[in-house]
Amino acid sequence: MQELLGGTNIFLIGMMGTGKTTVGKLLAQELGYRFFDTDVLIEQVTQQPIEKIFTSIGEENFRQIESQVLMEVAACTKSVIATGGGIILRSQNWSHLRHGLIIWLDASVELLTARLANDYTRPLLQKTDLTSRLNSLLEQRRSLYAQGDLRIFINENDTPEMLISRILAKIPSKVISSLEVYQNKN
Ligand code: S3P
Repeated sequence: MQELLGGTNIFLIGMMGTGKTTVGKLLAQELGYRFFDTDVLIEQVTQQPIEKIFTSIGEENFRQIESQVLMEVAACTKSVIATGGGIILRSQNWSHLRHGLIIWLDASVELLTARLANDYTRPLLQKTDLTSRLNSLLEQRRSLYAQGDLRIFINENDTPEMLISRILAKIPSKVISSLEVYQNKN
């Protein structure tokens, strides 16, 4: 698999609560890749937890730092990068994501609601009806997530290990078809 990927980065995109961090760590381990999480990097740069950043400097400034962090991390190779759920919102971020293989972790709003019911760390989900908030965010974002290279749908009983084997099974055909597109263009 490492030879097939040739050091290409893997970006995990998807809604909050889809398990990008857990799956990403395990996937990196499987591939002998480094692991990065854009939210963790943002917290390190700003020395503040994500929820504080939103209240102190606002979402727009958070998005700017997020783009900066993505740009820097995308310059690495051999890395699995778990991204914040909103990374797909800025078109400039796609120029970095597109350099790697983009995997969309998708899950139903029911499953996300169950997973996020007791979460107090995500500023976009506070003081609101969780299900309707998730529905409206997913409505706004679905067509963007769908621009990823691979979609992995997460069912309630899937373990991270099950998801990893589904991802690993799907990567070869995707890498080979991208190579074919590249060869036809050149
Ligand atoms: C956000 C997702 C969060 C974090 C921030 C905003 C979003 O990351 O970046 O709270 O806009 O969906 P996770 O997807 O890792 O929870």
